[in-house]
Amino acid sequence: MGGINPVKWWIFLYLSTYLTINNIALSSTNNGVSKKTYIVHMDITAIPTTFTDHVSWYSSLVKSIAVPLDDFNEEEEERVMYTYQSAFHGMAARLSEEEAERLEDQNGVVSVLPEVRYELHTTRSPMFLGLEPQDSTSVWTDKLTDHDVVVGVLDTGIWPESQSFNDTGFTSVPAHWRGVCEVGRGFEKRHCNKKIVGARAFYRGYEAATGNINEEKEYKSPRDQDGHGTHTAATVAGSPVHGANLLGYAYGTARGMSPGARIAAYKVCWTGGCFSSDILSAVDKAVTDGVNVMSISLGGGVSSYHRDSLSIAAFGAMEKGILISCSAGNGGPDPVSLTNVSPWITTVGASTMDRDFPGSVKLGSGAMLKGVSLYKGRRNLSPKMMYPVVYTGSNSSSPDPGSLCLEGTLDPHVVSGKIVICDRGISPRVQKGQVVKQAGGIGMILSNTAANGEELVADCHLLPAVAVGEKEGKAIKQYAMTGRNPTANLAFYGTKIGIKPSPVVAAFSSRGPNFLSLEVLKPDLVAPGVNILAAWTGDMGPSSLETDRRRVAFNILSGTSMSCPHVSGVAALLKARHPEWSPAAIKSALMTTAYIHDNTYHPLHDSSTGGLSSPYDHGAGHINPSKAVDPGLIYDIGPQDYFDFLCTQGLTRIQLMVFAKFSNRTCHHSVSGPSDLNYPAISVVFPEDKRVSSLTVHRTVTNVGPPVSKYHVVVSEFKGVNVKVEPSTLNFTKKYQKLSYKVTFTTKTRQTAPQSGALIWKDGVHRVRSPVILTWLSPL
Ligand SMILES: *[C@@H]1O[C@H](CO)[C@@H](O)[C@H](O)[C@H]1NC(C)=O
Ligand SMILES: *[C@@H]1O[C@H](CO)[C@@H](O)[C@H](O)[C@H]1NC(C)=O
Ligand SMILES: *[C@@H]1O[C@H](CO)[C@@H](O)[C@H](O)[C@H]1NC(C)=O
Ligand SMILES: *[C@@H]1O[C@H](CO)[C@@H](O)[C@H](O)[C@H]1NC(C)=O
Repeated sequence: MGGINPVKWWIFLYLSTYLTINNIALSSTNNGVSKKTYIVHMDITAIPTTFTDHVSWYSSLVKSIAVPLDDFNEEEEERVMYTYQSAFHGMAARLSEEEAERLEDQNGVVSVLPEVRYELHTTRSPMFLGLEPQDSTSVWTDKLTDHDVVVGVLDTGIWPESQSFNDTGFTSVPAHWRGVCEVGRGFEKRHCNKKIVGARAFYRGYEAATGNINEEKEYKSPRDQDGHGTHTAATVAGSPVHGANLLGYAYGTARGMSPGARIAAYKVCWTGGCFSSDILSAVDKAVTDGVNVMSISLGGGVSSYHRDSLSIAAFGAMEKGILISCSAGNGGPDPVSLTNVSPWITTVGASTMDRDFPGSVKLGSGAMLKGVSLYKGRRNLSPKMMYPVVYTGSNSSSPDPGSLCLEGTLDPHVVSGKIVICDRGISPRVQKGQVVKQAGGIGMILSNTAANGEELVADCHLLPAVAVGEKEGKAIKQYAMTGRNPTANLAFYGTKIGIKPSPVVAAFSSRGPNFLSLEVLKPDLVAPGVNILAAWTGDMGPSSLETDRRRVAFNILSGTSMSCPHVSGVAALLKARHPEWSPAAIKSALMTTAYIHDNTYHPLHDSSTGGLSSPYDHGAGHINPSKAVDPGLIYDIGPQDYFDFLCTQGLTRIQLMVFAKFSNRTCHHSVSGPSDLNYPAISVVFPEDKRVSSLTVHRTVTNVGPPVSKYHVVVSEFKGVNVKVEPSTLNFTKKYQKLSYKVTFTTKTRQTAPQSGALIWKDGVHRVRSPVILTWLSPL
C-alpha cells in the first residue's frame, strides 16, 4: 500500500466500499504458544467469599488456568489487561486458545469472547436542521442547562487547539462530572478546559495485538493525529467558529449540534485499528466518569446480541441512563448491511444536505458534464485550453485494475500531461488522485460505478479533480475510448446552497432490514452525513494522505461517522431540556418527530436508485431537532423491557446472563413477542405459515405534553391488509400519564414485497409518527 498508512487504507476502504469484517487473528506469540486477547464476562455474584474484591478474584482465576511458562527466567507477562465494572462485569485477558476454553468452564465465568477489531465509519448542517439560534424565540437559544450535559466521544482522540473547543463563556464543569484529563505526549492538563472536560486514551488491547506504540510516530495520549475524532467531537458540541471553511469551500459559521454541551474524548482508535477490549474499557470508564450521552462512530460485523461486546457494554450504559448513538455503517446500498442494531442503541444512517460543491468536465466534443469538487490550488488548469484525456480501462461498464488507478498500475508514458479517468472502488478516492499525480497526470475525473450510482462525495484531492456520477462517467469514458485525440478540461464553481432535492438518503448508508430481529426496525433515523464541515487535526492534511503537506483548521468528510454525532448532539440538547427523560424517551422523541419528505415536499428519495427510499433505508426519517424537543407523546422503554425483549430472542440462560450483570435479573415476560417491545417503530412479520393471517402488537405512550390532551390515530393504508387500532382515541388527563393501545394487522392477500406506512397520533399540535413495516416470510 506504499506511502499510505494502513489505517487510512481501511478507513477509506470502509468509506468507499463495502464493509467486510473478520475476526482477524490478533495474536502474539510467547514461547511458541500464541495468545490472543479475550473479553471475559463474569457473574459477580459468584465471587467466592475468600476474595474481598473482584480484581484479585479475576487474576487468581486466570492464574489457575494459565499454563506456566517453561522458561522461568522470562518474566510472566501481565495476563489481565483491563477489568470492567460499571457497564458490565468482567475483564480483558491474554490467553491461548486452550486457556480460553479452560476459563470458560470455571465457576462464575459467563462467556469468553475473542477480541474484535472495529472500524471507524468515516457549516451548514445546524441551519439545515433549523437549529440556527439567531431567532430569540427559538427553542434552540442557548440555555444554561445545556452546559450540564457531557457527551463522551469514542474515537481517535481530540485536537484541543481547535477553535471549536474554545470554552469562552462557559460555566464551571458540571458537578456530576468525575472524569479526568490524562496526560501523555502532546497532551497536558491545560489541554482540558470547560469545553473538553475529560480526555483519556485506551491502548492496551491495541498494543497487545499489534506491538508497542511507536511513540515517535503516534501520540500515546488523547491527542488526535487522525482528524476523525476532532471532526466528530466538533459536530456533537463544537463552539461556534465564524468564518470556518476548507480552502474557501463551505464558508460560514461552524457549530456543533449542542454548542453548550461538554465533550469528553475517549481515544480508542489508533493507526492500527480500534480494539474491542479498549472500546469496552472506554465505555466502562465513561459510565463512571458521568457522561450523559455517548457518540460512537464505529462498528464491527457481529452476528448476535450476546457476542457483540459493544452491544453488551451499551446495555450496561443504558441501564445507567446513558443514551448511546452509533453509526449504522457505510455498507449501503446493499440490503442487510447494518451494524450496531441493538434496540437500546440509537442507530444512525446518513443523508445529504442542501449544500454542494459543483464542478464540471468539458469534453472536446463540446459536451459538458456536471460533477463535484473541492479542489483549490495553484495547479489550476487554464480555462482556455483543452488537455488530452485518457482512460486506461478497456470497458466502460466493468472496471479493471488499470481503470481503478491503483498504486503501480498507471504507466507514466501513457498518462503524463493528461487528465486521467479513474473508476471508484477498491482504493481510497484521494489515493487515486495521488497515483495519477505521481505518474505525471495533470488532472483526474473520478467516475462512479454501478455500486455508487449518481451519488457524489467531494474530496480534497491533491490535483485538479472532478467526481462524476455513473451515467456521466460512462459518457466520458466512451468519448475517451472512441474519440480521436480526445480532450477535456475541468472547472470548479465553489460552494452552492439550496440544492434540491435534499435530504436524500446516501448510497453508502447501511440498509436494513435488521438481521438480528426483523421486528425491530433499523436504522432508527438518518441525519446529515455527506460533505460535512467540522474541525480537523493540525497533524494531517485534508486528504489524510501522508504526502499531503497542507494544514487546515476544518475539513469536509462524509460517512455515517458524520451523521452519528449530529444525533448525539441533538440528544444532548434534549437531555439538557428534559433531564428526567430516559435514553429510550429521547430516542422516541427523535424518531416520532422525524420527517420523511425533502425540500421539494416530495417523499424522501434514495440516492442509490433515484427512487423512493423505504424505512429500511431511512428508519423513522430525518431528524427534526426543533420538533423533537416537544414530541407530545413518548414510547418509553426501561432496562427490564429490553431484557424481556432479549428473552424472546432464543438466547440460552448463560447467553442472557451476559446482560443480566447480576444473575438476579430474570425474564419477566412483559412482552409476548419481539414486536411488542415498546419501540417507536412498528415492524410486523407474518410467518411462513399461511394460516396466521392476523397479528396484534401492543404499545404504551407517555404524555409529555399538556396534561389534558386528546389524541386520535391516523394509519396509512397497506396493500392487502386491514388495520385496526384500539382504542382509536387517547384522552390524557395528567402529565406522564401512560395509556396503551393495540394494533391488529389482518392479511387479506399475502404480499411478496414488504409494505410500509405509518401510524400517527395527533392532538392538533403534535404529530407522533411511527413508521410501520409489514413483511411476509415466504413459505419454505
Ligand atoms: C477563544 O475565543 C475568544 C473569544 O472569541 C478569544 O478572545 C480567545 O482568544 C479564544 N481562545 C483561544 C485559546 O484561542
Ligand atoms: C463490458 O462489460 C460488460 C459487463 O461486464 C459486458 O456485458 C460487456 O460485454 C463488456 N464489453 C466488452 C467490450 O468487453
Ligand atoms: C440485584 O443484585 C444487586 C447486587 O447484589 C442489587 O444491587 C440489586 O438491587 C438487585 N436487583 C434486583 C432486581 O433484585
Ligand atoms: C376520549 O374522548 C372522546 C370525547 O372527547 C370520546 O369520544 C372517546 O371515546 C374518549 N376515548 C376514550 C378511549 O375514552
